[in-house]
Amino acid sequence: MAQLQLTRFGGVDVLQLSEQALSAPAAEQVLLDVLFASVNPIDVKTRAGLGWAAQKYQDRLPWTPGFDVCGVVKAVGADVTALTVGQRVCGMTFDGGAYASTMLAPAVELLPVPKNMTHAQAAALPLAGLTAWQGLFEHGQLQAGETVLISAAAGGVGHIGVQLAKQAGATVIATASETHHDFLRQLGADQVVDYHDPAAMAALTGQVDLVFDLVGFESGLQALSLLKEGGRQITVPTVAVPAIKAVADTQGKTVSGMLVHPDRDGLAALLALCADGKLQIHVSKIYPLTEGAKAHLAIESGHTRGKLLLDPSQQEM
Ligand SMILES: NC(=O)c1ccc[n+]([C@@H]2O[C@H](COP(=O)([O-])OP(=O)(O)OC[C@H]3O[C@@H](n4cnc5c(N)ncnc54)[C@H](OP(=O)(O)O)[C@@H]3O)[C@@H](O)[C@H]2O)c1
Repeated sequence: MAQLQLTRFGGVDVLQLSEQALSAPAAEQVLLDVLFASVNPIDVKTRAGLGWAAQKYQDRLPWTPGFDVCGVVKAVGADVTALTVGQRVCGMTFDGGAYASTMLAPAVELLPVPKNMTHAQAAALPLAGLTAWQGLFEHGQLQAGETVLISAAAGGVGHIGVQLAKQAGATVIATASETHHDFLRQLGADQVVDYHDPAAMAALTGQVDLVFDLVGFESGLQALSLLKEGGRQITVPTVAVPAIKAVADTQGKTVSGMLVHPDRDGLAALLALCADGKLQIHVSKIYPLTEGAKAHLAIESGHTRGKLLLDPSQQEM
């Protein structure tokens, strides 16, 4: 089996293809033939040695990134009763490993993929979808009738967040470059604002109940002024939270961070929305697994739309 691994942290050249022998699944694991893995910014940050996951894996290198998978069950461990060989499943795999042609994963992290969802949608959904869901509703407590501003709205998490917030009865303001505006309107955004336009951003001052901040840093700091009295902000890039929270505290504003967590019920609900045609998952590009470095460079550019995937069946070098 092929894996795209990190043996050290650094630039994209540290992503190296390696061939590994297949292992049998432990009692609670399944062995999957990977159809697609998705690429998330956390993979890129970890590859560069940044953030919580780099700390977690620094003593466990080589490590194979990839927290999202859609695959077909190839073998099940002795204690696995909920999944069967041949079943198509997807999930957020909490220890990574999806940048591979085959992977082992705990069965509890995986759910069957509804028939009318594509492999690509199923691989693109879990981490971004759960982040949007948990950020808006568990942490953000978004209510019908409220106004939410979603930054980086055209990205992996944002484009799902726009749809979930709209369906929950919120008024959705989405920030993105103009090139994404039609895309965001089609997803249900009530207002789209180019974050490069200071006057347009200033016009939102004091208008927003909840900021779902997917950018952090300067953008997250500026967003504080958009909050209504008693408004709240969820800043999703974890490294950006302390500095924004420190400023918010001096202004009497509420800022919280979050870390997406595994949630079978939440993922099942998101899969059902996709199956019912109520949630669109936009995949903008699929790279061969061997071209994972190009996908990382695209994420690092900061301007991708929706999700990027890796396809282990394409073996171009
Ligand atoms: N804490 C957690 O559990 C957790 C979970 C998931 C994600 N995250 C973090 O959340 C962030 C978003 O994740 P993602 O997967 O959605 O990222 P992504 O798909 O890489 O986001 C790309 C989007 O960011 C937009 N963007 C870049 N700079 C912007 C700015 N200054 N203002 C507004 N939009 C901007 C781009 O739009 P334009 O082309 O218009 O610039 C692009 O569409 C990342 O930092 C990620 O690491 C954290």
